[in-house]
Amino acid sequence: MWKDFPLFPEQASTIAASVDSLYLFLIGISVFFSILIFTLIFCFAIIYRRRSEDERPKAIHGSMSLELFWSGVPLVLAMIIFGWGASLYFTNSRAPEGAMEVHVVGKQWMWKIQHPEGPREINELHVPTGQAVRLIMTSEDVIHSFYVPAFRIKMDVLPGRYTTAWFEATQIGEYHLFCAEYCGNEHSRMGGKVVVMDPVDYERWVSGEGAGESMAARGARLFTEMRCDTCHHPEGTGRGPSLDGIFGSVVALENGQSVQADESYLRESILNPSAKVVAGFQPVMPTFQGQINEEQLLQVIAYLKTLGRQGQAPPAGTNRGAQPQ
Ligand code: CUA
Repeated sequence: MWKDFPLFPEQASTIAASVDSLYLFLIGISVFFSILIFTLIFCFAIIYRRRSEDERPKAIHGSMSLELFWSGVPLVLAMIIFGWGASLYFTNSRAPEGAMEVHVVGKQWMWKIQHPEGPREINELHVPTGQAVRLIMTSEDVIHSFYVPAFRIKMDVLPGRYTTAWFEATQIGEYHLFCAEYCGNEHSRMGGKVVVMDPVDYERWVSGEGAGESMAARGARLFTEMRCDTCHHPEGTGRGPSLDGIFGSVVALENGQSVQADESYLRESILNPSAKVVAGFQPVMPTFQGQINEEQLLQVIAYLKTLGRQGQAPPAGTNRGAQPQ
């Protein structure tokens, strides 16, 4: 906003301006009514003051039109705020199709970030401009909150489940990143920066940093190391269901219900396999709680996402079950 009087952080994402407009609208309404009320109190106190000791005011028995007026106007205003807020909330909570995914793990007291291509960073997040970025976040210990004021996003990061947030950065630059939930001693230092780069520079950065393995390749290695492949055969002939095309599919469960296989479902099925048993299978899978950390879980899930999406063959290079490279 104003350079020398920064009441607002920079508007550096596609939704920043609309969040600010709603906020300013709310402030505008509050200011308008505060002034109106104080002015009326002041004027009425003068106009309707008692002028003599024995003055008696006229009796008033209510006014239907006045009642309707001061009930109707707030109703309309409240509905505008509700509709506007809800539509912004929906936009803000659903990432657009084709958003790039970045994985965030909060931990006392740092942010650990993994890009699907491989690069990992701590307290820094590199992203390109003009590209929607979906954050898939979880915590290794207590509740944290991922907050980037310049993007107008803030989302709690909880142990034991995934939360998501998304943004599309519009300007090259560096923006503060905070933990916005008191999480212990060093909470105030649990911050960092988001580095927004030109898409070409970003590509260069990813390929420079990501000389190592991709998340999916790390996940594939874990899949073999933890012997998941002994039961989960691609043909579905093992003791566990085939995981081909699992991500995003609707899975029928033993109890007759069904569930959409998203990140949270996959995570739960690894840590607490008997919670949602797939129809036709026995609850024989052991838990992997304590044997796999949050970052590794995200890697295994990244690998599972590559398995024969929507019934297609797995992309070349992800030779499931076998040792990659
Ligand atoms: Cu993490 Cu405050």
